[in-house]
Amino acid sequence: MTTLITGATGHLGSLTLQHLLQRVPASGIAVSVRDPAKAAHLGVEVRHGDFDRPETLDFVGVDRLMLISTDGPDEARIAKQTAAVRVAHEAGVGHIVYSSVTEATTSPLSLAVVHRATEELIRTTGIPFTFLRNAMYHENYTAQLPGAYERGALVTATGDGRIASASRDDLALAAAVVLSTDGHEGAVYELTGPRAWGFDELAAIAAEVTGKPLAHRSVPDADLLAGLSAAGLPAFVCELLVDIQANIRAGALAEVRPDLEKLIGRPATPVEDAVRVSVG
Ligand SMILES: NC(=O)c1ccc[n+]([C@@H]2O[C@H](COP(=O)([O-])OP(=O)(O)OC[C@H]3O[C@@H](n4cnc5c(N)ncnc54)[C@H](OP(=O)(O)O)[C@@H]3O)[C@@H](O)[C@H]2O)c1
Repeated sequence: MTTLITGATGHLGSLTLQHLLQRVPASGIAVSVRDPAKAAHLGVEVRHGDFDRPETLDFVGVDRLMLISTDGPDEARIAKQTAAVRVAHEAGVGHIVYSSVTEATTSPLSLAVVHRATEELIRTTGIPFTFLRNAMYHENYTAQLPGAYERGALVTATGDGRIASASRDDLALAAAVVLSTDGHEGAVYELTGPRAWGFDELAAIAAEVTGKPLAHRSVPDADLLAGLSAAGLPAFVCELLVDIQANIRAGALAEVRPDLEKLIGRPATPVEDAVRVSVG
């Protein structure tokens, strides 16, 4: 049995590999990465593979493929992931586990377009699949806290909206469980955190952890977009982030689902823990 993880030099992929190594022998694990030098220390088979150059992808002999979604503008992401799924199909991969987004089929998030397209493509290949529909990571938001302290406020466009974000490490553990146990073919898991929280509350948790007050200030989408652009982020990233925050404000990311806790066999990590890691 060979299990191959793409994106294994990224955050989610490397955590998934760490958890998988606790569950199956290293001899049964391979990774596919853009830069093999970055993966040389991982202790598993390293295959070079760049989704932008499908001819470099090698999924031959892979029983279970963890396809970690890539980044970039939507069209580029769809092209990369389409290429990877086609290579998997040609190579006779036995099972694809794909990192998607919560409620991918109906989600109003602009980024869901990529995940819908990839899920649909995987279904049409006939390869047995499992979709891990990941919530936004706690870490997306807790990583902003040190900067918020420097600027004097946590600035978002989220209003009173709430989000059921999840710990990235819990999502990686769930992926490793799916990759190392049977019975997940055809499953679509909606992986959220244990509760929905709001950004006033996030600022209050940070204040409690640090002993220093922090205000949350919600601004119009256009102001957030201008701020992100001024910080030098690429236009597609600015638009993506504003779209996510507008959807948080509208309540589209607040639903809590039980799948993550069921897969990992313990309560999902609360956002408080990620705040402590960020500013504790
Ligand atoms: N749920 C969320 O909150 C959230 C947040 C951000 C992103 N995401 C999605 O989830 C994915 C995993 O998250 P993450 O935190 O692990 O992101 P990450 O650290 O940016 O990892 C992305 C991985 O994709 C790889 N990659 C990008 N383009 C590639 C290409 N052309 N060929 C081969 N590999 C390529 C990167 O390779 P290198 O290591 O060589 O750079 C990296 O390993 C992201 O890519 C994105 O689709 C989800």
